[in-house]
Amino acid sequence: MEHKRTLITTALPYTNGPVHIGHLAGVYVPADIYARYLRLNGREVALIGGSDEHGVPITLKARKEGVTPQDIVDRYHKLIKESFQGLGISFDVYSRTTSDIHHKTASEFFRHLYDKGEFIEKESMQLFDPEAGQFLADRYVTGECPHCHNPRAYGDQCEACGTALAATELINPKSAISGAVPELRPTRHWYLPLDRWEPTLRHWILDEHQEWRPNVYGQCKSWLDMGLQPRAVSRDLSWGVPVPVEGAEGKVLYVWFDAPIGYISNTKEIFPDTWEQWWKSPETRIVNFIGKDNIVFHCIVFPAMLSAYGDGFQLPDNVPANEFLNLEGDKISTSRNWAVWLHEYLADFPGKQDVLRYVLTANAPETKDNDFTWRDFQSRNNSELVAILGNYVNRVLVLTHKYYGGTVPAPGEFTQADLAAFAEVESLTRSLSDKLENFHFRDALRDAMGIARLGNRYLQETEPWKTVKTDPDRVATVMYVNLQLVASLAIALDPFMPFMGEKLRGILSLEQMRWSDIGRRDIIASGHTIGQPELLFDKIDDEAIQAQLDKLEQAKRTNAIENFKPAPQQAPVSIDAFGAIDLRVGTITACEAVKKSDKLLKLTVDDGMGGRTIVSGIAKSYTPAELVGRQVVFVANLPTVKLRGVESQGMVLCATNADGSIVLTAPAAVATNGAQIK
Ligand code: MF3
Ligand code: ZN
Repeated sequence: MEHKRTLITTALPYTNGPVHIGHLAGVYVPADIYARYLRLNGREVALIGGSDEHGVPITLKARKEGVTPQDIVDRYHKLIKESFQGLGISFDVYSRTTSDIHHKTASEFFRHLYDKGEFIEKESMQLFDPEAGQFLADRYVTGECPHCHNPRAYGDQCEACGTALAATELINPKSAISGAVPELRPTRHWYLPLDRWEPTLRHWILDEHQEWRPNVYGQCKSWLDMGLQPRAVSRDLSWGVPVPVEGAEGKVLYVWFDAPIGYISNTKEIFPDTWEQWWKSPETRIVNFIGKDNIVFHCIVFPAMLSAYGDGFQLPDNVPANEFLNLEGDKISTSRNWAVWLHEYLADFPGKQDVLRYVLTANAPETKDNDFTWRDFQSRNNSELVAILGNYVNRVLVLTHKYYGGTVPAPGEFTQADLAAFAEVESLTRSLSDKLENFHFRDALRDAMGIARLGNRYLQETEPWKTVKTDPDRVATVMYVNLQLVASLAIALDPFMPFMGEKLRGILSLEQMRWSDIGRRDIIASGHTIGQPELLFDKIDDEAIQAQLDKLEQAKRTNAIENFKPAPQQAPVSIDAFGAIDLRVGTITACEAVKKSDKLLKLTVDDGMGGRTIVSGIAKSYTPAELVGRQVVFVANLPTVKLRGVESQGMVLCATNADGSIVLTAPAAVATNGAQIK
């Protein structure tokens, strides 16, 4: 069925930190591309976003900083909202789950299910932290996943295998607040019997949505095959939407119950009168963009909630979930500060929003986890955006000004080559549209860039600069064709790189861009005047990249220092055993690197006893020059060993810091070489 409108939702990020490139690549950039593509097609679209402001990640962060959860969500909601805007994510609404309208909507939703008898109410034994004096669920508790044995599963989900868990299923649970081993205490909660909806979900996904991405379909199938269980939808917490039932003091809705309702609340916020037509009409197509760790909630839990509610609520038509993006070979982590934060990127690379959007799309983790590296970022900018795209567009614009003062020339008859170029754009566009319709964004981008590659080839083959004097008519046709290709490019790339799209639209003074214009032979009419060319992209130099790599290196160091745990104390030794170790003071009189080793230095030490050679693994922390003249403490009575062919007669004492750097120990003041240390 042709749908009348498309409701696009994007996972609501937790406001316990800023957003990073992993969020962008997984959810927001593809969703924005899709929304912009549909809008260029004249389709009615709503792109829904917002902050997920309840839940344990936020209360944990507040507790850590000694501030209120409200302080935390206010801070990050603002930062996240502004940085999304900075990247051109074209939300029609970006609201928050602490809003009144959301509290009302979520509360009413629960109450409706409650009144319909859709919940099971029961008392059960739940994990309780005796030190913190509170019940533990969700991210307040970690332990081993009973399915895949990941040791760091959360009380509501294992992020390694995606399975939804109950805290009591964890093996060896541990409180994330106090580290205590939880005990079991009775408490009363409301459960949504997912098992009741299993046949509905089975039919809906397994029969009707075989077109979903294999990762999504496969995960759903495996959960359905394991059998669904009733799932608690309330918690013993104070931060959240209060359970709207008599006698439920001190209980709030489970964050994964309230957050997806946020999609509805936010729709209501922009369409107070017509929101139902976005949620309850079969003429609306709903698409949920999420990361892979959200699949169970969007494909099982929320659809069960909507089905239980009834009243015409539609289930999503597709749930394009992405895999994860890594950074420089390591898992992105908010707590370890191993990330590229969007707000920092925008500050470090002003005017380069499209470069990030391009790289994240070209390298999108659509079918498997992928890696973001700064070198790849640089080379995609320099050798694709600058060298292929920017260069082609710029040459066409400059030549148009040079030959025709900026006026689009009138074409003569098109040759075979011209027609072939138009035909190729058409076929690229068909493929591009098809890929966008099916959420294959990285391949779609490759097709769109194919138009730039084609343009470069066409320009190279027609060489207008060689024939402009001798065959001006032919050159007029060639330049006319080039200008149409540039206009096609502007439209085709606009969903991916809207800043560039807007700039080019301005230069070409296109009144409006329509997807159906791509490939047309008369997007810009002859006689039409274009503006002055501007560079679309410029090179990113090594220094800018190095600065980012240094920042990451620094994060690694800081993290190692913050998480340093001293090694456990060794088994006791007797005083005699200690006394048998002959520690002495010496002065380094010469030092050189040991050949074929990046770790070892050869030290010549004045030991007051005729001198000796000691080989030490400190080359990463000291240069030979800075060591000469320094006093050290060394072990004098070890057996001689050969290291890389050099005899070593002892060991200098050092400490290894949390960040891996090494410092030598030395007497506190100048001491006599050969003096014994006891
Ligand atoms: N806050 C969740 C996360 O970051 C996503 C919530 S999506 C919604 O994993 F559907 F609940 F809104
Ligand atoms: Zn698991």
